[in-house]
Formats: sequence, structure tokens, C-alpha cells
Amino acid sequence: HPFWPGLIEAYRDRLPVSPSTPVVTLQEGATPLVPAPELSRRTGCEVFLKVEGANPTGSFKDRGMTMAITKALEEGAQAVICASTGNTSASAAAYAARAGMTCAVLVPQGKIATGKLAQALVHGAKLLQVEGNFDDCLALASKLAIDYPVSLVNSVNQYRIEGQKTAAFEIVDVLGDAPDVHCLPVGNAGNITAYWQGYREYAADGTATHTPAMWGFQAAGAAPIVTGRVVERPETIATAIRIGNPASWTKALAARDESGGRIDAVTDRAILAAYRLLARSEAVFVEPASAASVAGLLQVAEAGGLEPGQRVVCTVTGNGLKDPEWAISGAPVPVTVPVDAAAAAAQLGL
Ligand code: F0G
Repeated sequence: HPFWPGLIEAYRDRLPVSPSTPVVTLQEGATPLVPAPELSRRTGCEVFLKVEGANPTGSFKDRGMTMAITKALEEGAQAVICASTGNTSASAAAYAARAGMTCAVLVPQGKIATGKLAQALVHGAKLLQVEGNFDDCLALASKLAIDYPVSLVNSVNQYRIEGQKTAAFEIVDVLGDAPDVHCLPVGNAGNITAYWQGYREYAADGTATHTPAMWGFQAAGAAPIVTGRVVERPETIATAIRIGNPASWTKALAARDESGGRIDAVTDRAILAAYRLLARSEAVFVEPASAASVAGLLQVAEAGGLEPGQRVVCTVTGNGLKDPEWAISGAPVPVTVPVDAAAAAAQLGL
């Protein structure tokens, strides 16, 4: 291809599409795999960041949404619905707009980042703030999709998983083989399921020689997979993964166990420390939930659970601009100066 055509065209032979499928794309995918020198230094490993915030709506959700909306259009759907902590709704709204479809989104009231709310609204979604958490929103969206003529585009929709598995393909295509360890944040557990499927497919046909250990990380206040129990009132500053009853729970356990991996909890404090380290040292601005993968990697490394010399990929799932509140809070208040070089220089300590 003379240009990147989007992930459906790029991986057409590995996706459930036919020549007549009406592809809905915003040229998602082909995101950067950025070397992370500071994380590599701290862990003694070769660490890369899969920067999914570089997708068209700023998160990995676009990979699943190009497939889900394409298939919904192929099947004749006129409306789609999703529950969301923000990114899914932003992505669904954009791809539905592109396809000329109506998009309904259900979000937990007061618990999604402002940038994500703005995206759903600007793309013309019909947005309802539900008096409940994400798990309540998903139950409601699923019921509406059964009782009314509207297609559900949450990651319980297998086409979402099919699209999202292409991130694993891209990593192997760039590195020449699978990494040894793959770290990612876990919320509803669709993405860890998708990566594991992608890595297995590439290993099955010999494109990769092995599969990585899948390391998933949940926020400590929303870690049902770690504790083995539904969390009735999940709490974390990482609102994207504020989920107490993940839809793909058993698939996440399978990914962990079949890959010889782990699913651990990371505190909000560790998430924010990793968030700041990513921005300051690696120059990659992510949203807080995305930093859970890096917080988890550092936590395991500090506990001696990471063998040095391995190749590690951390997926950073969403763009920092979606949720700037955490970048601004704690930072010094900017100083105001007159239009005067001496005054500016004095303030800058030059
Ligand atoms: N990181 C970000 C930025 C997310 O938005 C999500 C999920 C995850 C990680 C976790 O991925 O659910 O596949 O385990 N966001 C969903 C949403 C729930 O509605 O946008 P997961």
C-alpha cells in the first residue's frame, strides 16, 4: 500500500470480512512502538511502549470499533449502543458518524473524563448519564440491545476482539517476533483477551516462535479478577478501568493461565507515579488508566519478579489529553509576566 489503509485492509486475511464488506475506517492502527529507555534502565529489560493514544480518537478502542461498526453496517444496523467509561463511547460516536448511523451511549454519571464526554458529544452521539457505575451501564445497554433495534458494540461483541487483536500482530511485525512479556491495564478485560488471541494466532501459523506471558493490571480499588470477587462499588482515579464485574473475566483468566502470566493490582498512587514518569522521562503523555501497565511492570520488577534481559511491551491505551486534570493538579501554577525579556529571564532562572 502507498499509505496505511487502516487495520482491516492491512490484516484483511486474518479478519472476518469479505470483498463486499463495507469497510468503515479512520485509518486506525499502525501505532508507534516506542522504545522506553528509562523503563529499560530501571528494569534491566528492553521495554517498548505500544502508544495506542495515537489512534484517531485517541485510544485502542478504534481497533475494535472499525470492525464492530463495519460489521453492523454490513448486517444492516441503523443504530448502535454501548456502555462506556469514556473511550468506547468516543470511538463508537466517531465511527458511527462516519457510517451515517445513530449512536447511543450510556456512561456513569460524573465518572468519565471531560475530553471523552466532549468527543461523544461532538460526533453527535445520543448520550445518557446513568445513575450507576459502568457495570450498571453495560447491563442496561445489553438489555436495550435485546429488546430494541440497536446493535451492542461493547467488547462482548466478538468483532471488537477481532479488531483489537491486530495490535499484537503489529508488535510482532515490528519486533520480528513476540515479546517475552506483555503488560496492559485491565478493566472490562476485552483487550487482554484480544491481545492473547492475536499472539496465539501468530504463533499457531509460525509468524511468531512463541507467545508472551500476559501481565494484566487492575486498579486496587477495582480489582475483581485479582480478588476473585465482584466489586460492588469500584473506586479509582483511573476512571477508564473503574469496573467491578468485567464482562470478559473468564477469558482474562484463560489468557493469564495459558500464557503463564499474572493479573495483579496497582494502587492509584503507583498509577499516578507511573503516569508522571511516562510524561517526564519517556515523553509519552497517557491517561491515568494507561499508566497501570507501567506501574505494574515496575511493581513486579521491584519485587524481583522480572527476569532481566527480556523484551517487554507495555500497552499505553489512551491519550493523556482526554483527561488533563491529573496533569494540571499538583503542577505549579504558571507565573504571569509582562512582555519583557528581563522579567521572563528572571522568572525562568536564565
Ligand atoms: N485503558 C483505557 C484507556 C480504557 O479506556 C480501558 C477500557 C482500558 C484500559 C481497559 O480495557 O476494558 O478491554 O480491559 N475502557 C472501556 C470504555 C471500559 O468504556 O472505554 P478493557
